[in-house]
This record gives sequence, structure tokens and C-alpha cells, in this order.
Amino acid sequence: MGLTDMRVFVTRKIPGPGMKILEGSGAAVTVCQSREDAGVTREELLAGVRSSDVLVPLLTEPIDREVLAANERLLGVAQMAVGFNNIDVEAATDLGVPVTNTPGVLTETTADCAWALILASARRVPQAHNYMVGGNYKLWGPNLLLGDDVGPGGSGIRKVLGVIGYGRIGQAVAKRAWGFDMDVLAFDPYNRDGVESSEFASWADFDDLLERSDFVTLHNLLTEETHHLIGAAELRKMKPTAHLINAARGPVVDEKALVQALQEGWIGGAGLDVYEDEPAMAPGLAECENAVLLPHVASATSDTRGLMATMAANNAIAHLRRERAPNVVNPEVYETEAYRNRIGTSGSA
Ligand code: GLV
Repeated sequence: MGLTDMRVFVTRKIPGPGMKILEGSGAAVTVCQSREDAGVTREELLAGVRSSDVLVPLLTEPIDREVLAANERLLGVAQMAVGFNNIDVEAATDLGVPVTNTPGVLTETTADCAWALILASARRVPQAHNYMVGGNYKLWGPNLLLGDDVGPGGSGIRKVLGVIGYGRIGQAVAKRAWGFDMDVLAFDPYNRDGVESSEFASWADFDDLLERSDFVTLHNLLTEETHHLIGAAELRKMKPTAHLINAARGPVVDEKALVQALQEGWIGGAGLDVYEDEPAMAPGLAECENAVLLPHVASATSDTRGLMATMAANNAIAHLRRERAPNVVNPEVYETEAYRNRIGTSGSA
């Protein structure tokens, strides 16, 4: 099917390889002209959807029922991210709109970043960097910037990594722990078999994992069930020396409780890539000496972002062609009357 009379709305410019595929498809591609640091406004988003056949959004845009319903000809949403908690997938399915994401290509990159946070939090890397560039280093000191071992160190005592969420990324994080001679516990009620058959981790119940781990790292999806999965009660169960790592989604952690935990020494430290009310931080977090804070960059390498953009663009083209998209997150949509009506082939999807 020719795509020359079709239109794609991209909320913010995606990396080159993806733009190239979209532009080479023959479809007219509109990139929202909002300021790069402000993002697309609600009005721009609605107007873009109304005048397009496919939407390519980012995780920063709420794609709710109103947006999805704004255009009865919308053929699909091709998000450039693996997470899709910003999209009302249930509404999309009701309305007959296929939604796609970009799984797999960012697994290793994100696992590397979780490990960067583990090491940086344990060894106080940003604090040491700031000390150095602040001109404070005058003399080597036996008590200067002492951190925590990640591996067994000289004592030979193995540290414990607790992985919550044992999907692709959790497993890649667990695998890396073996290079550090760590014991790995994992908890994932949706993948208990995966944990129990894994050569890289042993199953632990949630509380047991919190109590036994020296590092707790979050790799679960954000859902109603996992909102504030880690709150004051959970932080109090962790060891006072433990580090909490979050490269999943901010609202999985009650950030106010985390600030209190860091200030009052309930835990030893935290490494965060995501925030509850991103891009804002909870009051006091920026001042916590024992927090390592990144601006949601876990998948941010040139190669990986190029691959994510490529994947999103290929999904967008499948939507434009009314074909089953490779990375659809609501495959049941293809069986619905709403979808058949939308693509204009009632009874023959
Ligand atoms: C990043 O957070 C993603 O979901 O791709």
C-alpha cells in the first residue's frame, strides 16, 4: 500500500535512523515544533493526532483516552520507549488502536546503567568527583570518602543483590552481578518460574529480599499494583547499609519516604534514574549526600537510542500499512470490531 497520502505525527524529533525510515516511507512526517526542553503542549498533541494517521510519542506525553479518541482514523501509536505507563492501553484497545513499544534493544544498556548506579552509590563516585573538581583534594586520607564494597572485597564476605522484577532487564542486571561474586536474590510474582529456573538468581519473597539485600534494584513495570511498592515500611525493612537503585519508573518508590530514609539513615544510599514527579525531585532529595541522581538516561547511548528509534519507526510503518505491528503491546486489539471499523475492512482484519 502506498504511503504517500499518509501522515505521521512525531511529538519530538527521534534519533536519525528512525527519522530516516519515517521520512523515506513516503508518508508526510510532522515533528512538533515545541521547544526541545519544554515538550509538546496538550493542544499541540491533540492537533497533531487529529491531523495524522499514526502518532509517534515519547514517554513524557500522556496518551490518554481523550488523545486516542481525538481522531477516529488514527491507525496506531508507535512509542519510542519500552515503558508505556503514559499510554492508556485499555482505552486504546477499546477504541481499536494498536499500541507498540521498543522492547529488547535497550535491555543491556539499561542494565549497564543500573550497574553504574550500584557502583556510583556504593563508592560515592559523584561525591568524590565533586570533591576533586571543588579543589578539596590536598592530601590522601585513610578516612577520605569511604564507601561500601560491591564484591566481597578483602573480607571475602559475599554481598547480596536483590532484583525486584525479573524480566529482561532484571535478568541482565542479575547476570552482571556474577562478575562481582555476589549472591543474587530475585522477586517477581509474574515470573516465579523464570527466577526458579535462572542460573543467575535464587527466589526470595519480597520482605525476605528487602531484609537480606545489600543492594535492592527495581526492574518491574509501573502499574497500580506497583505504585509505591517501596514506601516507608519497606525502606525500614532494608539494612541500614543497603542501597536502593531505581532505573524503572519513579512512582514505584514513595520519594518523600525515600528522602526521609536517606536523611535519617534508614538505608545507606540510593541511586536513581527516575523520579516520582519527573523532572521534579521531592524536596530535600537534591541535598542528600548519599544519593546519586541521573536524569532518566538509562537507555541513553547513541547506538541504543538509534535502535529504539528504528524500532518505533518500523512499528509506525506497520500501523500505516494496517499490518500487524511487530511490537504490539495490546495484540487483542486486532480481534476487535473497533479495530476493523477503524482500518475500514470490517469483517476481514
Ligand atoms: C525508558 O525509560 C523506556 O521506557 O524506554
